[in-house]
Amino acid sequence: MKIIHKISELKKITKNTNKPIGLVPTMGALHQGHASLIKKSVEDDNFTIVSIFVNPVQFGINEDFDKYPRTLEKDAKLCEELGADIVFSPSIDEMYQDTKELTLVCPPYSSINKLCGKSRPGHFDGVATVVSKLFNITKCSKAYFGEKDAQQLFIIQKMVKDLNFDITIIPCPIVREPDGLALSSRNSYLDEKARQDALKLSKALNYAKELWQKGIKNKQILCDSALKILEGTIVDYIEIVNPETFEDWEEKDKNALMLIAAKIPTTNTRLIDNMELR
Ligand code: PAJ
Repeated sequence: MKIIHKISELKKITKNTNKPIGLVPTMGALHQGHASLIKKSVEDDNFTIVSIFVNPVQFGINEDFDKYPRTLEKDAKLCEELGADIVFSPSIDEMYQDTKELTLVCPPYSSINKLCGKSRPGHFDGVATVVSKLFNITKCSKAYFGEKDAQQLFIIQKMVKDLNFDITIIPCPIVREPDGLALSSRNSYLDEKARQDALKLSKALNYAKELWQKGIKNKQILCDSALKILEGTIVDYIEIVNPETFEDWEEKDKNALMLIAAKIPTTNTRLIDNMELR
């Protein structure tokens, strides 16, 4: 496996591959959630490129860009063990000449005026822009994204359709700790007490799912019940959407996706999680 920092070097290598290219875009601090995406790409018999780039353009000014964990050596070891072919880890200068004078890919307002897009203005412009760049740089034919970031996955799928990228997006299920906590690079910010609070996100989702399975399909009741479990966290949003459209869920919709974002006090860590109600 090679670790590549330069776009030109990456292009030289990908010109001569005979396998289709599978891309796993990440910001590093890899965990078993990322590993599941990498494994899937390797199993699909791709030439697998894992990109590791903490993308400044998708972070707001008061967010955790500076303290975001950076563990390239450890990450590269894991990628090699999993059978990846390349880790692509460019510098900021290699990716952006000037982040202030940048052509952006902007997802439609209706997809970003809610959930994480509403709480993090500009975030999904940054994500769509860097992912487009990575698609163009790697010339991948498949790209692997986790359902953990459900709104991100929805936005990327729409972007691929709208902009005619000739790329298949492969959604991958959420990987959780045995007690239910969704794996996240930001879990490294949590001490024991904060971790107990963080667990409330998956507990709340599971409780709402239990109620749903008992026949309670009233949005207000489901959200209020989940909110009680989230006490002790600072809830940013709790919503139920139609996963096909990301519009507010209505009783006529077949499928329902509940999403939560909450800040864990003391560590000021913002976590997200989601679960299909069925
Ligand atoms: P990052 O948070 O590093 O996540 C990279 C990919 O791993 C995303 O597709 C995310 O959904 C997936 N992932 C994270 N935790 C997961 C879990 N517990 N189970 C399954 N998949 C999981 O998402 C980003 O980086 C960035 O926004 C990026 C797309 C790389 C653009 O900068």
